[in-house]
Amino acid sequence: MSFHDRIDHYLERVTRKLDAVLPSENERPERLHEAMRYAVFNGGKRVRPLLVYASGECLAVDERVLDAPAAAIELIHAFSLVHDDLPAMDDDDLRRGKPTVHRQFDEATAILAADALQPLAFAVLADIDGVPAEIRARMVRLVADACGSIGMTGGQSIDLAAEGQILAIDELENMYAQKTGALIHASVMSACLLRSDLPATELAALDAFSRAVGIAFQIRDDILDIEGETEVIGKPVGSDEGLAKATYPGQLGLEVARKRCADLLEGAFAELEIFGTRADSLRWLARYIVERAY
Ligand code: IPE
Ligand code: IPE
Ligand code: MG
Ligand code: MG
Ligand code: MG
Repeated sequence: MSFHDRIDHYLERVTRKLDAVLPSENERPERLHEAMRYAVFNGGKRVRPLLVYASGECLAVDERVLDAPAAAIELIHAFSLVHDDLPAMDDDDLRRGKPTVHRQFDEATAILAADALQPLAFAVLADIDGVPAEIRARMVRLVADACGSIGMTGGQSIDLAAEGQILAIDELENMYAQKTGALIHASVMSACLLRSDLPATELAALDAFSRAVGIAFQIRDDILDIEGETEVIGKPVGSDEGLAKATYPGQLGLEVARKRCADLLEGAFAELEIFGTRADSLRWLARYIVERAY
């Protein structure tokens, strides 16, 4: 059985967890809760939760303790997308083939829904069942760093400041590492935190693996923004060009961007060698990330 055959099982697990922690739409304030659920249940691929579970498989971590980090990181991701689409940021009307949250509701509701998704993620981490308090605290810290000004939020700030600019390649990759790579990295590291006896060599390999995959993830996203179709990617094609975003394929061309993705994948695979077949699920996901059509 390949990882592909277990995806539905993991999607079901993380969906159940998300459904359990998100307040009901019938609970007051109903419109806020409705918007939060809309942001989370409108059809994301759930790549970050899948990375949590695949990392858990590699390290033989019980899947029951992975539901919390998987759901928490997806909540942070969902919040980041709600803000990313706002008029003050990328000003996009379509996400996952549906109206963005500020279009479906209104701008204030979108801002507040994202505001509430973020602390909910930390509440989920604080409450992980069957994990010592010290590990839970380290998990909170891991995700806080990935989400904050040295992680995703910082990367988003650099992304906005870079509109209309040409960045050096290392600056471009640093922006990708922060705005997208940080949550991908945290997804893999969260499983590492749940193995107290993890050898340093394995930790270093997964650290390097997830950093490479994180940059490749954003390059692929930027390629799809150019050559994808709106009906397939569920987002407006050409959004980056319209905003004069500094992107890898925009600056260096599609061919160079595809080559960089392929090289990053090769590097990521090399990091996994020490795990043998234990890392097959991570290999499957890494390939999916650079070859995906949406
Ligand atoms: C989109 O992420 C935003 C980026 C970081 C590039 P995903 O491609 O994971 O979005 P969903 O959750 O599947 O919609
Ligand atoms: C990354 O970049 C988004 C976040 C880190 C939230 P994009 O702005 O390219 O993401 P999409 O294309 O709108 O999903
Ligand atoms: Mg953006
Ligand atoms: Mg965007
Ligand atoms: Mg994009």
